[in-house]
Amino acid sequence: MPVRRKIIAGNWKMNKTATESQILVADLLEKLNKFDGAEVVICPPFTSLVSCQQALGKHTEIDLGAQNMHQETSGAYTGEISAAMLKDLFVRFVILGHSERRQYFGETDEIVNQKAHTAIKARLRPILCVGETLSEREAGKMAQVVTKQVQASCAGFTEDDWSVSVIAYEPVWAIGTGKTATPEQAQEVHALIRATVEKMAGKAISDKLRIQYGGSVKPDNARLLLNQPDIDGALVGGASLDAESFVAIIKNACQKEEIS
Ligand code: 13P
Repeated sequence: MPVRRKIIAGNWKMNKTATESQILVADLLEKLNKFDGAEVVICPPFTSLVSCQQALGKHTEIDLGAQNMHQETSGAYTGEISAAMLKDLFVRFVILGHSERRQYFGETDEIVNQKAHTAIKARLRPILCVGETLSEREAGKMAQVVTKQVQASCAGFTEDDWSVSVIAYEPVWAIGTGKTATPEQAQEVHALIRATVEKMAGKAISDKLRIQYGGSVKPDNARLLLNQPDIDGALVGGASLDAESFVAIIKNACQKEEIS
């Protein structure tokens, strides 16, 4: 069984000006204090990428990610941002298909798939988000919805494409609601995602794929969630806007569960 290095990403959503972002990065670096037990990524708004990069300077314990990009490489798409533009700002990761993009901006699995291929060609690492709504879960359709999202969002992936990709399971009902999936509920879906990838690409690839959980991750629930066998990281929204709570999540996530 390959060891999957934990990956904890902060999705700042539409929060923090460029100036506020710089302050948060400085605070994070101080509190992380060179901790390197996990891969740490921050995904500020586009307008903060430069100031975050400047605040990071030569520090390598935090990577930069973006929250979205356009599927085309360039052209007449007013207001959009391309993969090359991100790459040029030293961005390494890009969140794609977040449920808020799907819900408010009409992103479909097909668009997410196009974006993923464009991102990978530009040498960005996609964090592909999937997850069911509350009504889908209550209707007993969780497995069907999540399986289809994984299959369609990652269609046409080669072995190399899988090797740079991360999947984030974010149950829509747990995002920003304070309701977290229990570690068992999350583990069930993560195992399902890994099995889906195994069917698409084989066991060697699915064993290596990192799958993050997202949805009301907080310092006090991170450890139990991340001790589940198929949970390899977290995609953190609200709690990533505060250096103390984000660093506590990172450190807790890397602790082994104590067996009492
Ligand atoms: P919260 O952690 O605020 O629930 O947000 C989760 C999320 O959407 C991360 O992408």
